Amino acid sequence: MPSAEGAPSSINSTETNGAKLEDLTADNLTQHVIKISSNISNERVKYIFSKLIQHAHDFVREVDLQRDEWEASWQFLTEVGQACSPDRQEIILLSDVLGISALVDTINSRQSPGTTESSVLGPFHNDSHFFENGDSISSTGAGDSMLIRGTVKDLHGNPVHGALLDIWETNGNGHYDMQDPEKDGPDCRGRFYSDEEGKFYINGVKPVDYPVPYDGPVGKVLDLLNRQAYRPAHVHFLISHPSFEKLNTALYNRESPRLVLDPVFGAKSSLTKDIVWCEDLEMAKIHKTRPIVRKVDGQDREGFWLLEHDFILADKQEVKKRKTHD
Ligand code: BEZ
Ligand code: FE
Repeated sequence: MPSAEGAPSSINSTETNGAKLEDLTADNLTQHVIKISSNISNERVKYIFSKLIQHAHDFVREVDLQRDEWEASWQFLTEVGQACSPDRQEIILLSDVLGISALVDTINSRQSPGTTESSVLGPFHNDSHFFENGDSISSTGAGDSMLIRGTVKDLHGNPVHGALLDIWETNGNGHYDMQDPEKDGPDCRGRFYSDEEGKFYINGVKPVDYPVPYDGPVGKVLDLLNRQAYRPAHVHFLISHPSFEKLNTALYNRESPRLVLDPVFGAKSSLTKDIVWCEDLEMAKIHKTRPIVRKVDGQDREGFWLLEHDFILADKQEVKKRKTHD
C-alpha cells in the first residue's frame, strides 16, 4: 500500500537474537503462514494446508472481512460445535447446506463412470434389524404401503449375489425413528441381502418430503439466506459387498416439488424415479405387500406404491486403479 507521500511502504524489520523479525502485512502474511506450515514430509497434507491457507486468506481479503463479521463467524462456528451430540451432527449439516458434502460426493463419484450415482448420507443412518426379502421394514400405520424392488448388478450387467442392502426412510409423517420420542427401536430401516439373481424386494412406505433439522444454528443460516429446509421425498440405500465399492445413494420421488430446492443438493436426475400406483394384487401377494385403499378418479381402489431400481456397483479393483489419491 502506498505511504502518505505516495512512495511504496517498506516492510519494517528488526534484528533479534538469531533471526531478522520482519513485520507481517496483508501482502506477505499468507506466504509466511504457508512457509511456516510446510516443514512436514507428508506431501498431501502439506498441499491441502497450503491451499486451505491461501484460499482462506484470499477470501478474507476479497470480502474485506470486518472485525464484527469475524466475531459473528466464530461465534456461529462455536454454536455449530455446541449443537453437536451423539444424536446430532451440526457440522456435517453445515457442510451439507453449503453444498460441500455434495461437491465431495460429485468429485469422488467421477471416478466410477457407468455405476449408480451416489448421494448425500445425511445424519439419520443407524443400526437396524436384518430382514428377508418380502418383509416389511415399517410398522403398520406409518405411511402408504410401498414395495421397493430391483436388482444389484456389476458394470457388465452380471447379477451381484449377497450384496448387503441397508435402507432407511422416514415414516409417512416425515420423521425418522430417531426423531420420534415414542420410538425406542428401529423403524422404517432395515438390512437384507440380494438373492442368487441379484434381486431384492422389501416393503416400506411411500416417502414424503421432510425438513433437515432446522432448529439449530444451521437453520438460522437457511433463514438468513431465505432458503427452505425440506428435502425431496427419498429412500436411502447403502449397498456393500466384499468385491465392490460401497455405494451410498438414495432414490427420489419425481413428484416432489422440492427436487430443485433440495437444501443439501443430493437429488440427481439419474436417481429420480416414478413411484407408481400398482393395482396388481397377485403381485402384492407374491411380494407380501400390504395393499391399501386410496381414491383414484373419485373411486376407492385397492393397490400399493411401487419403487423399482437396479443398482450398478463399481468393482473395487477398477476404482483402485482410477483413484487420484490414497
Ligand atoms: C437426510 O436425507 O436424511 C439428510 C441429509 C442431509 C442432511 C439432513 C438430512
Ligand atoms: Fe433422508
